[in-house]
Amino acid sequence: MNDYTILKNENDLDGESKALLQKAEEALPNAYAPYSNFHVAAAILLSDGTIVTGTNQENAAYPSGMCAERVALFTVSSQHPGKMIKKLVVLARLATQTELAPASSCGACRQVMLEFEQRQGKPFEVIMQNQDRHWVKTASAETLLPFCFSNESLQVRK
Ligand code: THU
Repeated sequence: MNDYTILKNENDLDGESKALLQKAEEALPNAYAPYSNFHVAAAILLSDGTIVTGTNQENAAYPSGMCAERVALFTVSSQHPGKMIKKLVVLARLATQTELAPASSCGACRQVMLEFEQRQGKPFEVIMQNQDRHWVKTASAETLLPFCFSNESLQVRK
């Protein structure tokens, strides 16, 4: 699937997405980003209505930190095993600013999203803000990672 829409205004998003963005924003103060000052939050809506949030967690040994999206995704599989993901949103803010900052998920997070999607056998929406501060809404995680590497590449069964 290779399908996305760009929405210029947050108000152009559907109510469910706006409510999820609100949850991500509420989680943003839980980011621990003393090194980058770039605070990121992700919120995930599960098909039973449960919302799971995650924030970036940095470390003095830089590579030991973790992105918000993966904190949230791994919380889903750890705390809500078997539940389906319907939607994931991500947003960010610099510690010094009040406006949201563009937050496009890194490649590693896209790779992890993809495997969650493939495991559940159903696409989930991803919403993030691009460099123009417009909202990008994709119909699937796969949209964010064309020509991807996956378990099929390893020729293993799901
Ligand atoms: N970060 C995320 O949380 N998600 C992304 O997709 C990109 C980057 C975090 C990692 C680090 O704590 C900070 O943003 C700066 O890279």
